[in-house]
Amino acid sequence: MRTCALILFVLCFAIPVESQAQNSFTESLGNIKLNFSLDDMGSPHYEVSYKNKAVIKKSLLGFKISGAPLGPFIVKGTVTKSADETWSPVWGEVKEIRDKHKQLTISLQEKHTPNRLLNIIFRVFDDGVGFRYEFPLQPKLKHFVISDELTEFNVSGDHKTFWIPGDYDSNEYAYTTSPLSQVDAWKLPLISNGSKEENMPDQFAVQTPLMMKSIDSLYINIHEAALVNYSSMQLHVDRANYKLSAHLVPAPSGQKVYLRAPVKTPWRTVLVSDKAAEILTSKTILNLNEPSKIVNTSWIRPMKYIGIWWEMQTNKGSWSYSDNLDSVSATGSLFPNERHSANTSNVKKYIDFASNHGISGLLVEGWNTGWEEWFGTFHDKEFDFVTPYPDFDVVGIMNYAKQKNVQMIMHNETGGSVDLYERQMDTAFRFMNRFGYPAVKTGYVGRIIPRGEHHDGQWMVNHYIHAAEKAARYKVMINMHEPVRPTGLHRTYPNWLANEAARGNEFNAFSEGNQPEHETILPFTRLMGGPMDYTPGIFKIRNYSKEVPGRQVHTTLAKQLALYITMYSPLQMAADLPENYEAHMDAFQFIKDVPVDWDDTRILEAEPGDYLTIARKEKGKDAWFIGSITDERNRSSEISLDFLTLGKKYTATIYADGDKADWKSNPEAYKITSQKVDSKTKLKLKVAPGGGYAISIVGER
Ligand code: NOJ
Ligand code: CA
Repeated sequence: MRTCALILFVLCFAIPVESQAQNSFTESLGNIKLNFSLDDMGSPHYEVSYKNKAVIKKSLLGFKISGAPLGPFIVKGTVTKSADETWSPVWGEVKEIRDKHKQLTISLQEKHTPNRLLNIIFRVFDDGVGFRYEFPLQPKLKHFVISDELTEFNVSGDHKTFWIPGDYDSNEYAYTTSPLSQVDAWKLPLISNGSKEENMPDQFAVQTPLMMKSIDSLYINIHEAALVNYSSMQLHVDRANYKLSAHLVPAPSGQKVYLRAPVKTPWRTVLVSDKAAEILTSKTILNLNEPSKIVNTSWIRPMKYIGIWWEMQTNKGSWSYSDNLDSVSATGSLFPNERHSANTSNVKKYIDFASNHGISGLLVEGWNTGWEEWFGTFHDKEFDFVTPYPDFDVVGIMNYAKQKNVQMIMHNETGGSVDLYERQMDTAFRFMNRFGYPAVKTGYVGRIIPRGEHHDGQWMVNHYIHAAEKAARYKVMINMHEPVRPTGLHRTYPNWLANEAARGNEFNAFSEGNQPEHETILPFTRLMGGPMDYTPGIFKIRNYSKEVPGRQVHTTLAKQLALYITMYSPLQMAADLPENYEAHMDAFQFIKDVPVDWDDTRILEAEPGDYLTIARKEKGKDAWFIGSITDERNRSSEISLDFLTLGKKYTATIYADGDKADWKSNPEAYKITSQKVDSKTKLKLKVAPGGGYAISIVGER
């Protein structure tokens, strides 16, 4: 008999079932019910229901190993356990997280030789199910290759689906909302480097987290947790049968994953509720990740930052020092262009702004050599991560920042040249330690080198984790752009503050932009796996682009403020230029005040694709901050402040859309009012088309 190792588990049964020939097992918690069964052919299946409604109908589980299916199986035994424990994240949306679940492990063995073993571990939570595969230590399976994972999610109807294509690259797409039966990735233009055939060979594959809503208003979210040493799971949509199946991002060989037993796969997750808000408050993905591997976390601090960034994005400045590599002087050095933004005097101007307004961090991009040919060349070895351009004074800037109490954020754009970065990483992190950079933003723009690897494949998944671990060893916080989309690993590596891995605010600078509904979808999709460095806070909503005069952000200014609450991240950028903030210092006050770490979070109103209102309580203080956003339609938001301490008086400052505000015709109109509130206060606020509001509520002493 096996014993139960975890002290916190209160129940533990191990049942050898061979003799009973039992092939069906059920586990439930709250409204969630899970059933596992082995059919007559020896194929494993599972089903999930919520309040007795089918969420996942009978769906296949399993693998193809080196081209041939694993199985057929018999059930060798099962183990059930249950757990109920509470843990505290290093930073987060809430102070404490409860992990209550039941676990059912099914041990399978192939019926025929070589009698290979496979365990399937289910965890049932009150808001969904997680399951993973385990290949135990065994004589006939050691080093092996997964050619396909056969996991299916057979959903119960033609659900309304919020999807982006399953490209293998950066996830930087606008969402399409359509019935599942109308998913078609190739309808959309390819936005990454490479061809459609290379980057999204499955025309009907979509990314996870995938958010769906059924006809009877069940909200269903499918994703994965703890993506470690495996390739990311996209979902192939069988449009006629509403059946989703795992589509793993391949290695250059065309195989999917290279493993060595004993090994466990990432968890596959299905979350469900009849309330959209409960999808957002779910902690199941975090609970399925391992606790922090970093013991002393005192150096990890959520932060706000500004950057020499938007001026490059809007083409007022440049990352590169020289216009092209041919402009070389007699001494062999490059001729500077006039627009190089990362020059010492400009950096000092930004340090002054951060220091004057209590913004703790400053990101400077374009400070190091290599930017002349960074984009789309598919060339190796362009960048150097420790050599500044001649007009960037590393020591002078370090001293000035220190004097002004501003923390410098390092920038390591790899341009996709990952092998190069891995070789320079120690040198790069030592440089950060030496010159006072407590955080780094990494970037993986373009096609990955080694050529043939994809952003979302196993090799890169391991690279991102390696980078986070390496950063932790040097006590550096990390923020990755263009990585695989996150799966809750920030629990395990709390120095991994944020990722991009979706279409950020930057697309408003260099493309047609993000539609007004974009930010109402992201929390239900991309953010389910972890915080996003969305880079909110654009105040000059129109006429910021030199190249395209009519270009504008598809939100109001007040909505940009609301994003600091609705787009959760422990790392928040104030993305606009200092002069654009100086033109609206009264509204900028909200960005100065808004915290980046929280004790509590309440979802007050939520509907994916339509609107979202969230209230959060500042860490360690009796102060609340609310953000509310809508899509292209105006609305009236009605909220109750019943989360405030009973009997206590507070002052609320409301940053709302102006009376005639509209994202398209009048986006910069806002009004700021102040009123006394308490726990009995109800507010009714008008939200403009593409608009929003932000509120700070501070307790009176
Ligand atoms: C793309 C990133 O998303 C953006 O933030 C960065 O400025 C550029 N790459 C250059 O690294
Ligand atoms: Ca990007």
